[in-house]
Amino acid sequence: MISHKIRFLFLFALIWSYSCQDDQDKSDFGLTYPDYFPAPHYQFGKNKLTREGFELGRALFFDPILSIDSTISCESCHAQGHAFADHNTALSTGIAGLSGTRNSPALFNLAWQPIFMWDGGINHIEVMPLAPITNEVEMGQDMEGAIKKLNNHPTYSKRFRSIFGEKPIDSQQLFYALAQYMSMLVSYNSKYDQYRQGKSTLTADEDDGLQIFRAKCASCHTEPLFTDYSLRNNGLEILNDDLGYGRITLETSDNHKFKVPSLRNIALTYPYMHDGRFRTLDQVLDHYDSGIVQYTNLDPLLIQNGQLGIPLSQEDKLKLKAFLHTLSDFTFTSNPLYSE
Ligand code: HEC
Ligand code: HEC
Repeated sequence: MISHKIRFLFLFALIWSYSCQDDQDKSDFGLTYPDYFPAPHYQFGKNKLTREGFELGRALFFDPILSIDSTISCESCHAQGHAFADHNTALSTGIAGLSGTRNSPALFNLAWQPIFMWDGGINHIEVMPLAPITNEVEMGQDMEGAIKKLNNHPTYSKRFRSIFGEKPIDSQQLFYALAQYMSMLVSYNSKYDQYRQGKSTLTADEDDGLQIFRAKCASCHTEPLFTDYSLRNNGLEILNDDLGYGRITLETSDNHKFKVPSLRNIALTYPYMHDGRFRTLDQVLDHYDSGIVQYTNLDPLLIQNGQLGIPLSQEDKLKLKAFLHTLSDFTFTSNPLYSE
């Protein structure tokens, strides 16, 4: 009799522990990254990360419903195959064929990013979508209208309710869902990462390129994220009145400074620089070697011993390029978790 009861209890405990395991797996949905990455900057806090919330953010990212005429989605300018930069265009096209003045940046490792936009003008991932949605050449949609469309939509209204509770959709919920999707876009599976994890070796040229990179580029494009998120002027010829960081701080000493971009996936995110002026990595390397323009706010690291720029021989350039190609993460660009 007693032994029966114990057996029953044991069975019950076993089933219970299995179902807990299941719960565990569900709540394990979260940011994963290698141990050589620093701690992420974004803390989900009140925005509790769940698979449902992430999937809702993903649906919204690919849905043109957020633009005024339902023609442009976030994905129109941020394509997964290009590490979420634009499809090979200097200035993206938004609603009604309009275009802005800056190049669409790649999107990955955003949970580590303390500032957003080329001029660092946005400092929180949860307010980030406000800019493209309301921008008159990107999606041209006021928030009130966007929220109304979502509330009138049969499946979105259900999906939001099941995550955020029985209340109408508001912009906070929209921003939370998009922040969940964006912050989960983590890229750490390039050949460089395989090498860091001892799973792959670099060729002689790639390895030489890494050493040149560490000596000449890493003070701004710092490993392992390949940026230090500072705002600097890297000596580009001034072609227009985009003041960059100076537009935000209104200090002339910040004019024409832009956020140091990550160089992860750099072979996939052409064209380059805040206005997409360079089509190839060769042009970028020629710029650092011989194209740096003297300017009051030029970063002091780009003047050495009174000489402008970073001297690079033909061979240095070949090796640097070989190294930069090891930063492409094809697991990231083809990950079905991130696709529509
Ligand atoms: C018409 C093209 C276009 C659309 C549509 C668009 N973006 Fe962008 N996105 C850009 C451009 C251009 C920038 C850089 C703007 C700047 O620096 O002023 C940018 C910047 C960003 C950044 C900052 C990245 C960084 O490294 O600083 C994020 C995040 C982002 N977009 C997310 C989104 C989301 C989410 C949507 C949809 C709600 C969206 N974008 C829709 C073109 C677009
Ligand atoms: C003094 C800091 C600094 C140094 C040193 C530096 N960079 Fe940059 N880099 C920047 C800044 C700032 C930008 C963005 C400039 C802009 O768009 O206005 C940039 C942009 C780039 C881009 C374009 C990225 C994109 O997404 O469009 C590439 C590629 C690049 N740098 C490679 C290099 C290489 C290779 C070296 C070494 C030879 C190097 N950088 C050295 C600050 C630096």
